[in-house]
Amino acid sequence: MNLEHVEIIGTGSYAPPNVLTNDDLRTKMGVDTTDEWITTRTGIKERHVADENTFTSHLAAEAARRALTDAGLEATDIDMLVVCTCTPDMFFPSTACFVQHAIGATNAFCFDLNAVCSGFVYGLTMVRSHLAAKPGMTALLIGAEKLSSLVKWEERATSVLFGDGAGAVVLRSGGSGRGIYDVLLGSDGSLTDLLQVPLGGCRAPGERPVVQMKGTEVFKHAVTNMTSACVELVGRNNLAPEDIKLVIPHQANKRIIAAIQERLDLPDDRMMINVDRYGNTSAASIPIALDEAARSDRLAAGDNVLFVAFGGGFTWGACLLEWGSCAAE
Ligand code: ACO
Repeated sequence: MNLEHVEIIGTGSYAPPNVLTNDDLRTKMGVDTTDEWITTRTGIKERHVADENTFTSHLAAEAARRALTDAGLEATDIDMLVVCTCTPDMFFPSTACFVQHAIGATNAFCFDLNAVCSGFVYGLTMVRSHLAAKPGMTALLIGAEKLSSLVKWEERATSVLFGDGAGAVVLRSGGSGRGIYDVLLGSDGSLTDLLQVPLGGCRAPGERPVVQMKGTEVFKHAVTNMTSACVELVGRNNLAPEDIKLVIPHQANKRIIAAIQERLDLPDDRMMINVDRYGNTSAASIPIALDEAARSDRLAAGDNVLFVAFGGGFTWGACLLEWGSCAAE
C-alpha cells in the first residue's frame, strides 16, 4: 500500500486562567512546602488550576478551536478526533465525544486514548497510521488534563507537581514533505506500582482517586527510557542529536529534562522547557510546549523536531518530524 505523508498543519493550546504560584500553594492551599523546595527539586514556579465547573473537555475544546483557527479549517472538516487523557470527564462517554459536540465536529469519529504522560506521542502514532492510508484526511489530536482532580493538596510529594491544561494539533495526510517520519513506542507493565491512581476504578470503586508515586524511582526510569528512546530514534534515521533543531520533551521536571539534555550533549536552545509555568500537565504537556514553540521563533520550516515522553505504566515514546513540510518545499 502506498502510504501518505502526515503532517501537523495547526497548533493550539489553552490553560485555565487561575494560576497558583508555589507560594500560593503554601498560603492559599495550606500545603506544607516552600518555593525553594519546589523550584530546586522540579523547576516548577507556577501551574494553572481549573475551577470546579471546568472539565477536561472544556480545556480540550478551547485548545481545539485555537488549533483549527491556526490551520484555517472548520470543525466540520475534521474526520477523526482523539483526546489523549488520564483525567477524562467521566468513565464514559469519551471526553472526545464531549469535545466533538462542543466544537461541532459533526463529521468526525471520536475516542479517547490513555497512555498517561506518553498519551500525546501514542496518539500521534495511532493517528498518523490511520491517516497515512488515505490522502486528504484530517484529524484533531488533543492532549488535555485536569490533574488537579487527582491530587489531595495536603499530599505535598505529589500535589505540587501537577497542573491543568490542553494542547491540540490538526494533522492532515497527503503533504509533500516528510512530515512525521518515524515513531517509537514502549511499555513496561511490570512497574505499574511506581506511579498509579489505584482508587476509583473497578478494583476500588467509589474511592476518591489520588496519584501515588515513588518519585525517586520514577525519576530514574524517566531519564533512562527517554534518553534511550531519543538515541535509538535519532540513530536509526542516520541523524545525530545536533541535527535536531528542537527537542520537545514531556514537561514533568526540569531536572529530568536537564539530565536528558546532558546525555544528548545539546545546548539550551535545542530543548523546549515551559514546566516552570505549567507544572506537569501529563498528556497535554508536549502539545502545549509545541504550540508555544510554533508561535515563537524557535521553529522554522524544514527543522527536525523530536518529541519524547514518559509516563505511568510505564509507557514511553518518541517521534521525529519535519516541521512545516509543505512550506519547506
Ligand atoms: N515540599 C517540601 N518538602 C517535600 C515536598 C514538598 N512539596 N515533597 C516531599 N518533601 C520532602 C519529603 O518529605 C522528604 O523529606 P525527608 O527527607 O524529611 O523524609 C524530602 O522532601 C525528600 O523527598 P524525596 O521524595 O526523596 O525528594 P526527591 O529529591 O526525590 O524529589 C520529586 C521528589 C521532585 C518528586 C522527584 O523524585 C521527582 O521529580 N521524580 C519524578 C517524578 C515525576 O516527575 N512524576 C511525574 C509523573 S511521571 C512523569 O511525568 C515522568
